[in-house]
Amino acid sequence: MPRVTYIGTNGDRTTVEVPLGDTVMDGALDNGIQGIIGQCGGGCTCSTCHCYVQAPWSQRLPAPHPDELDLLVYALDREPASRLSCQIKLTEALDGMVVRLPQRQLPE
Ligand code: FES
Repeated sequence: MPRVTYIGTNGDRTTVEVPLGDTVMDGALDNGIQGIIGQCGGGCTCSTCHCYVQAPWSQRLPAPHPDELDLLVYALDREPASRLSCQIKLTEALDGMVVRLPQRQLPE
């Protein structure tokens, strides 16, 4: 299973294994990682799964779908590496991926 490391707002790193085909959001929610809300359940309609994908992984991901880009407009504290974690499906090629969690998400 691909491993994903989540960097919390205090700098703590938590690495978990995420089943192939699950998303970075699934990995956070299934393992009690704080900072990802995922209010819409991965439907790409809420932006409460915002995260920052760290290099070099940010360059290895497919470009965001236009729907993701439309929704990222609403993400708080957006940065160039901002992505919606519910739109990142894990593959073996993404084993070792690192994402940083934002200080805040849109209120639920
Ligand atoms: S969980 Fe709602 S947009 Fe990702």
